[in-house]
Amino acid sequence: MTDSARQRDFRNAIGNFATGVTVVTAFTADGLPTGMTANAITSLSLEPLMMIVCFDKLARTRAAAVQCGRVGVSVLAAGQESISKVFAGKGSEDQKFANVGWRERGGAPVLDGCVAWFTGELGELLPGGDHEIGVVTVSEFGADGGEPLLYWRGAYARILGETS
Ligand SMILES: Cc1cc2nc3c(=O)[nH]c(=O)nc-3n(C[C@H](O)[C@H](O)[C@H](O)COP(=O)(O)O)c2cc1C
Repeated sequence: MTDSARQRDFRNAIGNFATGVTVVTAFTADGLPTGMTANAITSLSLEPLMMIVCFDKLARTRAAAVQCGRVGVSVLAAGQESISKVFAGKGSEDQKFANVGWRERGGAPVLDGCVAWFTGELGELLPGGDHEIGVVTVSEFGADGGEPLLYWRGAYARILGETS
């Protein structure tokens, strides 16, 4: 099996792990909001409050987050699929933020309409192959609730029902 076939199979297999969808944000050196769609995030610690954000080494948001030292994580709502698609692209900051409002919270941008948000300090960046594992100490967070956007098997999805 070729490397690329094995990578495709791995991607298909891990795609069965359903996730939410977030936009990870930071401010550029010019003070502009920037961000990228990310689902490789998770909670890490309660004492202190910490979470993990995995950055593609080539992501421009990674560079901005490192320079800025603070990051935001906006958990997208079910109706924000188009926002996810825009932030997964390589448009300019203006293009990415053209159709979504945002506010500054704890030194990082937070998107309007998200179901939950977190901001904090970006600490260690641990090696992880072609990615880096960013350890974030959370300083502020909030949750408006509502239905989240999901990502499953390479496509966007919604919650159909809840089990007890
Ligand atoms: C559903 C989904 C999840 C993604 N998760 C991540 C992620 O966790 N980390 C990452 O670095 N890129 C992730 N990406 C890819 C980035 O969004 C993409 O590379 C983006 O163009 C980066 O933008 P930037 O270079 O402006 O930072 C994901 C894309 C999609 C569609």
